[in-house]
Amino acid sequence: MRKPIIAGNWKMFKTRDEALQFIYQVNQNVPSTEFVDSVVCCQAPLLRDLVKRKGENLAIGAQNMHYETNGAFTGEVSAQLLENIGVEYAVIGHSERREYFNETDESVNKKIHQAYRFNLQPILCVGESLDIREANETNAFVKAQVEKALKDLTDEQVSTLVIAYEPIWAIGTGKTATKEQANDTIKEIRNVVKELYSSKVSEELRIQYGGSVKPANIKELLSMSDIDGALVGGASLDAVSFLELVEAGLKK
Ligand code: PGA
Repeated sequence: MRKPIIAGNWKMFKTRDEALQFIYQVNQNVPSTEFVDSVVCCQAPLLRDLVKRKGENLAIGAQNMHYETNGAFTGEVSAQLLENIGVEYAVIGHSERREYFNETDESVNKKIHQAYRFNLQPILCVGESLDIREANETNAFVKAQVEKALKDLTDEQVSTLVIAYEPIWAIGTGKTATKEQANDTIKEIRNVVKELYSSKVSEELRIQYGGSVKPANIKELLSMSDIDGALVGGASLDAVSFLELVEAGLKK
């Protein structure tokens, strides 16, 4: 049994006041981590405030981090500092970072290694563009992304990894993948992990779906065999909506 994981990705939204108000609104009602992992990933300057004020069932995540421990990397954030201030998760390789900030499969792989070095739980994002889906090349594309991202990771690391399958054409567009499309590609990802590692590792690894998930469609997505949770952008910004999403995780 894989524990569902629901993560909000706030992207570049919310002021400090808005973020704290959200935390105070959700704190009492986030379900126990015994049943579902609930995570909020925010902008770096908010991380420490949220870590200090969050309730015990919520975890806080970064949206990016550097793969070196320290050095002359102006503007970057280190995994060491994230661990140091109590951050528990790091989103790695989000399609927006791949598209606008030169994130490559190689840097993604280095960042996952670095996240594990500093006890951060990586959420690795993969997913195809509309062109790739329409050319029927989704499986080959996602397979290559996963293989490169996992290079030289151990069985133990991969069995605890979280992958978010996010088709780019479904992100922020209101166009959700059908539950069958999402489940099929996620099964394919599990299969790639099985080939690279073992069936045990592929059965333990958690794989989320992301792309226009909202309270109205999360239940049907989570009803599918291989979808273990969701990475949610827009619909995670509102406290009531976020609570509905994590409660859906509770019922998986
Ligand atoms: P969305 O974003 O839920 O707003 O589509 C998902 C994501 O980018 O993680």
